[in-house]
Parts: sequence; C-alpha cells; structure tokens
Amino acid sequence: VTVYVPRDTTALAMGADRVAARIEQEAQARGLDLKLVRNGSRGLFWLEPLVEVETAEGRVAYGPVAPSDVAELADTGLFEGAQTHSLAHGRTDRIPYLKAQQRLTFSRIGITDPLSIDDYRAHGGFAGLEKALPMTPQAIVDAVKASGLRGRGGAAFPTGIKWQTVHDEPPGQKYIVCNADEGDSGTFADRLVMECDPYMLIEGMTIAGLAVGATQGYVYLRSEYPVAHRLFSEALERACQAGYLGSDILGSGKRFDLEVRLGAGAYICGEETSLLDSLEGKRGMVRAKPPLPAIQGLFGRPTVVNNVLSLAAVPYILDQGAQAYADYGMGKSRGTLALQLSGNVKRGGLVELAFGVTLRELMEDFGGGTLSGRPLKAVQVGGPLGAYLPESQWDSPIDYEAFASFGGVVGHGGVVMFDDTVDMGEQARFAMEFCTVESCGKCTPCRIGAVRGVEVIDRIRAGTERDANLQLLSELCETMVDGSLCAMGGMTPFPVQSVLKHFPDDLIHPRGGTP
Ligand code: NAI
Ligand code: SF4
Repeated sequence: VTVYVPRDTTALAMGADRVAARIEQEAQARGLDLKLVRNGSRGLFWLEPLVEVETAEGRVAYGPVAPSDVAELADTGLFEGAQTHSLAHGRTDRIPYLKAQQRLTFSRIGITDPLSIDDYRAHGGFAGLEKALPMTPQAIVDAVKASGLRGRGGAAFPTGIKWQTVHDEPPGQKYIVCNADEGDSGTFADRLVMECDPYMLIEGMTIAGLAVGATQGYVYLRSEYPVAHRLFSEALERACQAGYLGSDILGSGKRFDLEVRLGAGAYICGEETSLLDSLEGKRGMVRAKPPLPAIQGLFGRPTVVNNVLSLAAVPYILDQGAQAYADYGMGKSRGTLALQLSGNVKRGGLVELAFGVTLRELMEDFGGGTLSGRPLKAVQVGGPLGAYLPESQWDSPIDYEAFASFGGVVGHGGVVMFDDTVDMGEQARFAMEFCTVESCGKCTPCRIGAVRGVEVIDRIRAGTERDANLQLLSELCETMVDGSLCAMGGMTPFPVQSVLKHFPDDLIHPRGGTP
C-alpha cells in the first residue's frame, strides 16, 4: 500500500513527521508492505497534515491527521482507502478547493516526491528544457515574450522584455539571479515551489540561462526557510549528477551552473539591487537605478533578476507553448497567479487561478470566510506595503491594471484577511513601524519619514492636535511616495493612506491598542 505524507514546512509544523512515524508503526503491526512517500503539500493548509492513500480509483485524502488519530484511522480502513472516518475527504483531486483551481505552475505539487527526478519527468518535468536546448536564444526570449508572462515578484514587469535586455548585451559573463527572499507577509508560494517541486525552478533558471547567454545562476534564499534550503540543495546535487546542470546539459555542449546563497533576514534584500549587494558579500543597500541590473547587475555584469514564480512559469511556457499560457488571464495580465490565502480565514492555502477572479470569490468560495466566523472587515493584498481593501473593492477582478486603478497592489499574491475585531489604526501604525525597522537607510523620506510617521499616528490616536496631525500624516505619505528611492519607502504609505481613506474612525478612536 502506498501512503503519502507531505514534508514541506507547513506539514512539518503541523506534525507530519510524527504522523508518518505512527503510520509506519501501524502498517508494521498489521504486517503490511508499506511504501511511504514524503510528497509536497497540495497547498490545502487547513487539512495539513494531509495523508493520502493510493487506491484503484486514485488517491484519497484524510486530514488534518494528528498522530493520535492514526490508530483509529487504521482500524477504520485507512490502508484500504476506506471513507467512513470523519477525517476522510474522498478523492483528493475532487476536493472542491483543488478541483476549481487552474494549476499550471503548481500542477505537480503534492502529487510527486519532490526529490525524485523520475517522478518529475513522469509528470512532464524537463520537457520545456528539452525543447529549449535546440532553440536559438532569441527564439526562447520570443516565446516568453509571447506568453505575456509578467514578473511575479510584485512589479509585473514583462519577463520577456527583461530577458531581451540581457540577451542584447554584448557576450561575456552574465548571470541569472532568482529572488527567493520571499518576505511579504502572508506569502509562501516561492517556498512551496522550492520544497515541493524544486526541479521546476532549476529547469526555469536553466532555460533563462540559455535564453540570455548566462552560464551561472544564483538562488538568493531567505535563511528563514531551512527546509526549502535543505530540499532544494539536495535537488541541485541530484540534477547535477543526472546531467541537467553543469558543463554539458543533456549532452548538448551547453553550460549552466547553479548555486544557492542564504540571506540573513533583511526584508530589503528582497529588493533586487540590495539583493545583488548582499550576493556580492556586502551589506544590502539599495542601489540607484539606472543602471538597471539587466545592464549592470551582479558584479557589474548583465543580470536577470526574477522571482521564483516567474522562473517557475517558464518550463510550462516552453513545453506547452506561449499561447497555451497566454490563453489564461485577462487584459494585460496573462496566465495564472499563485494566490496565497492567510490571516483570519477558514481555509488558508495556495490557490492558483487565471487572472480575473474576484477577491470576494477567492475569500468566500475558496477561503470559506473568516475562521472566527465574524464578518470580514478588510483584506491586505500584496504584502505589508499593500493597501487595505474595504468591502467596496472586493468585487474587482484580480488583475494588475484593475487593482492599480484604485490604488491596490497585487504584488506577490499574498491575501491576508481580517475580521471586524481588527483595529485598522493599529495596522496603519504597524506599516510605518515596519518601515522604521526594515529601511536600508539610504534615503531621507524613508529613513526619517517612517519614524515621524509612527510619531504622528501616535499623536492622532492620543487625540493631540488631531486635525493638524491628520494633515501632517497625509503630507508625509505623499512625500514618502514621491521622494523615496525604492518601493520600501515608496509603498509604505499605501496601507496608511488606505486606512485614512476607508477606515478613518479606527485611526481616530483607538480600541485600546497603542499607545
Ligand atoms: P520596478 O518597477 O523598479 O522594476 C521591475 C523590474 O523590471 C526590475 O527587475 C527592473 O530591473 C526591471 N526593469 C525595468 N525596466 C526595465 C527595462 N527597460 N529592461 C529590463 N528590465 C527592466 O520595481 P521593483 O522595485 O523591482 O519592485 C517593486 C515591487 O516589488 C512592488 O510592486 C512590490 O509589489 C514588490 N515587492 C515584493 C516583495 C516580495 O516578497 N515578493 C516584497 C516587497 C515588495
Ligand atoms: Fe532604503 Fe527606504 Fe530609501 Fe528604499 S526607500 S532606498 S529602503 S531608505
């Protein structure tokens, strides 16, 4: 009997190792020949650890399984795939949350053993690379351009155009840098790629290297992801041994090498230029642009800096064709987006869907509303620098342009939900406070502005010269937006301005929070 127990960070945090050990004991006690596969998460976090059993009809799911549930599950037919227990959910691929998704990038997660190259290949892995190897670099760049793929780190710059810039630079040392410093609150999609389908990122980066003439790649990974580090490093070693990386990729004579570098916990090192400083061994400070990293990046050489999800989308595009990817989405937002539901939500997890779904559909149909059962009050999309969206904006389609039209940010796809007990004034203060801690300190509007922002908000909440301080806060926000060198200081005002506009009462009448 084949049983799957995930081993990504979420499942491990929920006790997956202990559940796996108990399942082994129960199988042994019953004299069963058990094949225990440690897969990745399906992204249905409220069901983790999600145990699956292979049956003639397909895989069936049980969850959330605690170690203490295993004996009873085994007694009621776990190993036969019986569906009588209250933790049974039937066929995994028919769970509505999963069935209603459009998984292109995440098509394999939770299905395969993340470290098995055979499994990866059996599910379409490396087919994109095999197609890219005989192509000209320009043809690969053209395919990515035609797919309409835009940077999934947050800024949504067209990936193909970025690659074209690096491709067009004179030959010489060029680099592919993968930004895996996933620092936005409520985001975990990069981590899932690295822990649950690491060869997809390796394949995407190798294709990027072939496209622009780069022979060296670096993954800049946040040190807060030790499981991703361990699994991805193991995958790298296996990919090298199997000839998918190195000096002669699959006998083509083409070269691409890949290494992982760990960050040290600074949010600002997710900004591409400070990331490059950090990769070079310096303290991560933002560099002025121009020059763009595409022209003068790592060690002054032309460099593609792409988010994990942008690179992970590439194998599908090369394998299935640019049009297959572009067929999904709306307007100028093509393909799918990995939405990450968290905060006060009943069913948190990963939801990959074509652009165009509304926030309300996402939060209600997938998320099932708040975990507390209380009314939803606000939702923050796009990380700690994204605006808080009130109910009047929840019917907007998730699309870069539609969101921008009302000051919203799609960002990296993090969706954090809050019920009506949240104090939005406290959230506004937190945005400024976060910036005081994470600012790199290079420019004044951000370094000093954020500190003054906290002070002004405290004065408003204490009722000191309220009107004058509200005016001051508005002006300070405008100065930070207009005068900051990078998105850190430039976007910190977004959540604050959204609170001023949509939840002013919370700012003026604190509910016992700070100060
Ligand atoms: P940006 O708009 O300055 O640049 C976007 C990208 O396009 C950069 O890689 C830039 O080098 C490149 N680019 C621009 N013009 C180009 C050209 N002509 N040729 C080639 N490449 C070109 O935005 P930035 O500052 O890189 O990112 C800001 C975004 O980051 C925000 O919108 C925010 O949503 C997101 N963000 C993401 C976080 C995460 O954890 N993923 C954390 C914080 C912010
Ligand atoms: Fe540094 Fe903030 Fe200025 Fe960005 S906006 S360069 S993080 S001080």
